[in-house]
Amino acid sequence: MNQEQIGVSAAAAELASSYMPFARYSEKLIRDFILAATSRLRSLTPVAIDVGAGTGTPARILRDLGYRVVAVDVSTAMLAKLASDNPVLLARIAANANALPLTGRFADLALFVESLHLLKDPEIALDEAIRVTRPGGCILIVDTLREDLRIQVFHKYFPAFFDLDSQRHFSLSELLSMALGRPLRLIYLDTQEFELTFPTAAAMTKFVSSRPFFGLRQLPEDVFVQQLESFAHAVAREFPVGPAISAGRETCVILEVTS
Ligand SMILES: C[S@@+](CC[C@H](N)C(=O)[O-])C[C@H]1O[C@@H](n2cnc3c(N)ncnc32)[C@H](O)[C@@H]1O
Repeated sequence: MNQEQIGVSAAAAELASSYMPFARYSEKLIRDFILAATSRLRSLTPVAIDVGAGTGTPARILRDLGYRVVAVDVSTAMLAKLASDNPVLLARIAANANALPLTGRFADLALFVESLHLLKDPEIALDEAIRVTRPGGCILIVDTLREDLRIQVFHKYFPAFFDLDSQRHFSLSELLSMALGRPLRLIYLDTQEFELTFPTAAAMTKFVSSRPFFGLRQLPEDVFVQQLESFAHAVAREFPVGPAISAGRETCVILEVTS
């Protein structure tokens, strides 16, 4: 199945395929959020659907907790990397989140980890996740809220990137009103901070120069080059010696499927 067949524009598919894995969040934090969801579920043979599974960090955590995991991603490149790192999954499916090629309400848990804000049709994707999750099961959403973008050095000193991500990320009230207009009940909400540490300001700039975030790769070349230069100056000023640190914040929303 190619990207066009799964209903994704060529540009979006290219963007997804060129996505590189990187340490953009704390794995411990994601594990803690996943545990907050799985501790509420009682199935003896639990199944999870990881929507926007990427290279498989959440899928691996769930597999290690005894879950059979269906990993769904629009990017075949991401799924290939996921497959080489995580051989023991129930299934890997190249599909768009807004049209899951799955039938039956067999999942105990459907999750979107740093993926919901990237979807063109997040509401439809949420409906799809509900459609395949049994009543009493859970939907787990982990994402960066719009109000928390600015604490990241990457957004603070890269205005074009900040503007782009501000349009894409949800505020907490948007996220909750989207979820609570559906057969879902909020059972857990938490926000945690983490830090990304680089040995020096120059190392942080080098990281950013590889355009490790979707938003950075969507900027026009001239805007990127110009703002990278001012970013380099700003971080060199803020971290003149020693490590350069960016704060980050992730929010976890767990919703029970009510019907
Ligand atoms: C930022 S990554 C997060 C990956 C993974 N959840 C994790 O936490 O490591 C977002 C993922 O969503 C996928 N994605 C983007 N749009 C999608 C869509 N419409 N349907 C399914 N997956 C999509 C991308 O290919 C990418 O792998």
